[in-house]
This record gives sequence, C-alpha cells and structure tokens, in this order.
Amino acid sequence: MQPLRVGLIGLGTVGSGVAKVLTESPQRMTHRAGRPVELTRVAVRDLKKRRDVKLPSDLLTDDPLAVAGASDVDVVLELIGGQSPAKEVVLTALEAGKDVVTANKALLCAEGAGLFSKAREVGRCIAFEAAIAGGIPIVHVLGQAMAGNQVTAIEAILNGTSNFILTEMLQRGESYDSAVREAQELGYAEADPAMDVDGTDAAQKLCLLTQLAFGTRVTPEAFPQQGIDTLDLADLQYANELGYAVKLLATAKLIDGKLEMHTQPTLIRHNRPLAQVDGAYNMVALTGDAVGPMWLSGQGAGQMPTASAVLSDLIDVAIGRAQSTFNRLDLWDERTAVPVQPAEDIYRRYYFRFPVEDRPHVIADITGILGNHSISLASVIQHEAPEVDDTDTSGAPIVPLVIMTHRSHEGKIRAASDELNKLACVRQPWVCMPVSD
Ligand code: NAP
Ligand code: HSE
Repeated sequence: MQPLRVGLIGLGTVGSGVAKVLTESPQRMTHRAGRPVELTRVAVRDLKKRRDVKLPSDLLTDDPLAVAGASDVDVVLELIGGQSPAKEVVLTALEAGKDVVTANKALLCAEGAGLFSKAREVGRCIAFEAAIAGGIPIVHVLGQAMAGNQVTAIEAILNGTSNFILTEMLQRGESYDSAVREAQELGYAEADPAMDVDGTDAAQKLCLLTQLAFGTRVTPEAFPQQGIDTLDLADLQYANELGYAVKLLATAKLIDGKLEMHTQPTLIRHNRPLAQVDGAYNMVALTGDAVGPMWLSGQGAGQMPTASAVLSDLIDVAIGRAQSTFNRLDLWDERTAVPVQPAEDIYRRYYFRFPVEDRPHVIADITGILGNHSISLASVIQHEAPEVDDTDTSGAPIVPLVIMTHRSHEGKIRAASDELNKLACVRQPWVCMPVSD
C-alpha cells in the first residue's frame, strides 16, 4: 500500500493537534484512510520554539513553500492562518499537483474564488471543513447530507471566542479583558483576537456558508457586521431579565428571492436551542425545504475539535471523497446566485438601552422620535435611580432606559437613530441590538 504523504504547514494550536493524532494513532488513521498516513514534512516559523508534540527534528523546516512543493508530499495541510504566505502555500501545492486541506477562513473568504478555480483547473481539491464552526461537520452536511435540499435559512453561532467571552462575563462574572486572555490561553482566539471580537471571523465564516448553501459569493462588506467588543455587561443582564440570551449571531435567510444577511450581537429567546449554546461551543441552525429545521452543535474552536475536522478532510482526500465533494459543492453559479437584500430592508425587532437623564419629558422625547418613524414599542423599562437630595445641584441622575420594539425596517431604525443621537437627554454610548424570536 502506498502511504499518503502529508506536508504539515503550521504546528501551532491546530497543527499540533493534527500531528498528535497522526503520530500517536497511526493504526486508526491507516484503518480509516485505507492506507498509512505519514507525516513527511513540517513547516514552522520558529525552529527553536518548544513544541508539545514530539517529532523527529529532521522533519522540521522554516520554509513553507519548500514543503508545499516537495516531491515527497501528496497532500498539504495549510494551518498557518492569515493571507501570506498561506495563499502562496496553497497555490504552490496546487500547481505541484497536490490536494490542500485548510482551516483558513480568512484566506478563503478573501481569495477563495481564485483558489477554488485554480484547484479545478489543475484537477485538485481544497477541503476546508475546519474553516467553519471548528469540529462541527457543516461542510460535509451541506455538501453531502443536505444535497437534495434548498437551504432556506441559516442562523449560527460561529465564533467560539466570542461565545466563550459572553458566557464567562454573564455566568462567572469575569471581566471582558480577562475572558479575552483566557480564550487566547485556551487556543480559541485567532492570532489577532480583534478578528474574533469585532465580528470579522464570524462574518468570514458566514460568507463561506452562504457560498455553500446558496451558491452566492458574498464579502463581509455586503451586510451589517458588528462584534461583541462594544457590548456592556449591563446589556447581557437586561436581556437576561427580559428572557433573552445575547449571542453573536450570523444569519443568512432566503426571503422573497433575496438573502437577508447580518452578523451581530443578537437577543435570542431563552427557550431556543441557539440561546443555550455556551462557552466555545458553536451551533448552526439550518432549515432545508425537504428536511425542515436542523441544529448542529459542537466545539467551534480549540485544538482537538479543529484537528478532528482537518483529519476528516485528510481521510476524505486519502479515499478520494474530498475530490468528489469539492466538485459537487455549489460554490458559485451566476445563474442561480441569490442577491443580498439591502440592509435598510431587513425587518425584525430591536432592543435599545439609552443612558438618559432622569427628568420630565425624556421618555416622551425618545418614544416620540421612534413613533415618528412608525417604530412601534413592545415594552419600556426604566430602573429607578436612588432618590436624590432636593438640594443636590449636580443635575439629573443618569438612568438606563430599555426599550423593546415590534418589528421594524432597519432603514427606519437608522433614521430614528440619527435623530436620537441629537437628543441632549440621551448620553453616549447607547446600544441597539436586533432580536431573533
Ligand atoms: P497558531 O497557533 O498561531 O499557529 C500557527 C502556526 O503557523 C505556528 O506553528 C507558526 O509557527 C506557523 N507559521 C506562521 N507563519 C509561518 C510562516 N511564515 N512559515 C512557517 N510557519 C508559519 O494558529 P492556529 O490557532 O493553529 O490556527 C491555524 C489556522 O486554523 C488559522 O487559519 C485559524 O484561523 C484556523 N482555525 C483555528 C482554530 C482554533 O481554535 N485555534 C479553529 C478553527 C480554525 P511557530 O509555531 O514557529 O510560530
Ligand atoms: N478563533 C476562532 C473562534 C477559531 O474563536 O471561533 C475557530 O475558527
């Protein structure tokens, strides 16, 4: 039996997890792949760094392109992340006639179109299960199990770091900064954690999901995107009191022939499965026209869950299934691509929290502006401030005013927001989040 010779590029969180299984469980890999799977070359940036996986030192190099093009490598695992040299690695591997497995959503979101067509041109494949939702086999589900469906809706928690931070803050009372540090130590965060907390990573994953599910090529600029970095613990607590969890929710829904898309912190009712996803877990809630609703949940970040997805792609390459899945993926078809709905037309409920002066007419001023834009209110909560001494001349105390609206168009919310920003009684920053019932 000819072994499958693997060139591993990147021996960080994910690469080390993959290397551990390849070196510690060779029989399992041989059995599942139908032939031995051998690590023949490994590229890292720093040859002196201590590794938590034992490898013969002659396997290691700091030249990733040499591994990508090496004659003793059949398949390249690109696990370095970012744009460069990851793009050059993938192109070199494809041009040298090798299949590629990658976990790099940033690269595929920016350069996927060119890389996928290059792979098709040279008759190779790119497998990327680990790029979306960590250990959840969502690419396999969309590419194989749901192949007979038209997907009509995706609502997903796709960033493990953000979900971990939100859980730590609300349930364990941790500060935002210490929760970010812990996510980095646990290997959930990107090399630059700003990509996690500002919503970029989830938006990149949503673009890939949209390509797979709807055959539509989208970039994150095409839809509203916001991260958890502007959230306040108070909003998680108010949402909780109102019966909602706040999650960084990525949405793509087919409505009247257009795609409603956004990635934003969103209030989700406690009784929905998405609201119950905690820690670094992800969930993809899908609806297919034949299968109906489906929920897939699992660890969306971290060493071994992500390695699990890379290994499944590697086995698929070994047995020839990756190529056939890649060829059948509904990646881009101009004839069937669905346009993205303009953000102003998005129609849903909203949560507002305004820090306001506690004095007469404030609620009337705010609700008046919302009413003038035909935004109907579902509830208004103002928590009492401590009663002030009548002789205190320091001005009205600031209290939170929380408003839930009925459904409204995003365009009206934006127009009302411009006017609310001009009200002297409303202090900055105030918060507006969508609601998903
Ligand atoms: P990481 O821990 O930062 O590891 C990156 C590895 O790439 C390191 O071993 C680094 O070498 C190596 N590297 C970087 N630049 C290089 C260069 N120019 N030449 C050679 N080697 C280079 O990153 P990670 O968390 O494993 O993530 C890897 C990929 O998986 C990223 O695309 C990420 O988005 C994706 N991903 C990660 C997770 C997760 O939970 N961590 C989950 C899903 C997907 P040194 O070790 O010498 O520095
Ligand atoms: N940084 C990413 C996350 C890794 O936290 O979800 C998984 O893609």
